[in-house]
Amino acid sequence: MSVESSKGPRAEIENLLMESRRFPPDPAFVARANATAALYEEAERDYVAFWERLARERISWYTPFDRTLEWDLPFAKWFTGGELNISYNCVDRHVERGLGDKVAYHWIGEPGDTRTLTYADLLRDVGKAANALKELGVRKGDRVAIYMPMIPELPIAMLACARIGAPHTVVFGGFSAEALAGRINDAEAKVLITADGGWRRGKAVGLKQHADDALVDTPSVESVLVVRRLGDAVYMLEGRDHWWHEVVERQPALCPPTPVESEHMLYLLYTSGTTAKPKGIVHTTAGYLVGTSFTHETIFDVKPDDVFWCAADIGWVTGHSYIVYGPLANATTSILYEGAPDTPAWDRWWRIVEDYKVTILYCAPTAIRAFMKQGEAWPQAHDLSSLRLLGSVGEPINPEAWLWYHEHVGGGKAPIVDTWWQTETGMILITPLPGVTTTKPGSATFPFPGVEADVVDGDGRSVPFGGGGYLVLKRPWPAMLRGIYGDPERYRQTYWSRFPGMYFTGDGAKRDDEGYFWLLGRVDDVMNVAGHRISTTEVESALVDHRSVAEAAVVGKSDAVTGQAIFAYVILKAGQEPSEALALQLREHVAHVIGPIARPRHLLFTPDLPKTRSGKIMRRLLRDLAEGRVLGDTTTLADAMVVDSIRAASGRGEDE
Ligand code: PRX
Repeated sequence: MSVESSKGPRAEIENLLMESRRFPPDPAFVARANATAALYEEAERDYVAFWERLARERISWYTPFDRTLEWDLPFAKWFTGGELNISYNCVDRHVERGLGDKVAYHWIGEPGDTRTLTYADLLRDVGKAANALKELGVRKGDRVAIYMPMIPELPIAMLACARIGAPHTVVFGGFSAEALAGRINDAEAKVLITADGGWRRGKAVGLKQHADDALVDTPSVESVLVVRRLGDAVYMLEGRDHWWHEVVERQPALCPPTPVESEHMLYLLYTSGTTAKPKGIVHTTAGYLVGTSFTHETIFDVKPDDVFWCAADIGWVTGHSYIVYGPLANATTSILYEGAPDTPAWDRWWRIVEDYKVTILYCAPTAIRAFMKQGEAWPQAHDLSSLRLLGSVGEPINPEAWLWYHEHVGGGKAPIVDTWWQTETGMILITPLPGVTTTKPGSATFPFPGVEADVVDGDGRSVPFGGGGYLVLKRPWPAMLRGIYGDPERYRQTYWSRFPGMYFTGDGAKRDDEGYFWLLGRVDDVMNVAGHRISTTEVESALVDHRSVAEAAVVGKSDAVTGQAIFAYVILKAGQEPSEALALQLREHVAHVIGPIARPRHLLFTPDLPKTRSGKIMRRLLRDLAEGRVLGDTTTLADAMVVDSIRAASGRGEDE
């Protein structure tokens, strides 16, 4: 393989900061916008009172809360004393006020099959699924794991859990059996809900097989519910496995929602950190509902007749907050699409936008860059005039992609909201407000009303406008994580110890002279590949798990489409010979252990790795090597020859 020189992230950052075009809101949009500048003022006067007002207005309570915020840093409790049910707030109350016939989801399967679910349909299906879970012995507080393709039963399963107070943990369908088992075991899930499979790029992807492999080693799981999506024969273990269409269908539709306290755990979602073990991020009920529903309404300017499409997978937090809970709490009509953007052709999304008159589209820069690569003829072939607002999430969006999105998808008129947030934050925290904020391509602009974000130096001192540093959050917000499941110490350590009293995001950021935030990517050992977080350590341990590998070091290399691509340096055990076949095998091994999203794009065999005298791998150096950059400081390198030998090794590795 070749380690070619490429434009590194630094060059990109410079481009970002030179980008000077501005997009003030269109007066016609301003006149109808949900958001107003007054929100910032209200929130700044008293952020606790601000969230209190919203919680009272937006949530249907069984018992109103009596305290808005208990802040025992780093542990927050919001709206305590209150009781509610989030599935009631997302479904029942809309049906009760006459919106039963309103479409909740237009679902589109990849092969072209479709289903429409109204709010009344959702109420019936959620009730039945909740009764089925009860029959399987699930009680309030029991955890349920969900491993499914993007089919309507996925949000139905989540709402069914929430209806009976059982926290769910959704595991992205692209994860491996091993990854699934790890999450099930950490959560000690009692039930797994899965499917025989789903469609992806024209291929049937079997999920039950992975689930079975995982279930060999998951003692907590008593029952498995299996949705039939493909219709292929799958193994069903008598007594443990049950077909959804048999157990759920025969249930009564009525299932009274279980009132839960505001801080009741709604879900766990696992995300990569800097160690090999993913963290179970804990989200609770009331604060999460307020945060997701209010940001959804104001940032996406959602009106009753909008057709909203968040094109993420529900397996990630974006799908939890902006396909399921936020939009449903607001009685929105959403699109739910099962498959890939290029199947059967690169205009699949634009066909959907045209057919369903989608008005708001929210997706990742990776998708936009992939579309850019295919050329504007694809979007041009369709009527996209229904689109009136566009969103971006998951990674920094480069101005070039922003402008392409604006021009070729948004018809040069739809405002773009570049939204920064994380699995941990639960809701969008840095974003323009459409109709209020003048945007600059590549900048996520300003913190959402009530949110206090800052850019600090290594000592935690605020950096003046014009400077860069670490992105921190300085006060609690309602949808914030409540901890790492079962590990309060790791929670404190990971997020609250780097800068005392502040939440450290792990991101670098810069503010320009006008205070606009420009996100610069992760500053820790976490990669962002196609908008997905992958830990370098997790990939390294998957590589070392292979019998031929002695040691591995993994870094992110910048990539024109996926933002970063995984670059692995591998030292083989004595007696093992580097070969293209072995490189291929190792890349497949990682895909098998973690999931295809973690398959290294580049793999280089090397006789040694650059280390400091204390034995720490010098990742920055490896990043520079991967990018083909002039090397930074190597004075602490234990053996300066190593770098030369890695350079010489180029040619014995393997690119995808
Ligand atoms: O590095 C930031 C990046 O994605 C990380 C969070 O990843 P995850 O928890 O998987 O959630 C992704 C979807 C919310 C952040 O630490 N990130 C997210 N949004 C942006 C972003 N980077 C730049 N600009 C964004 N708009």
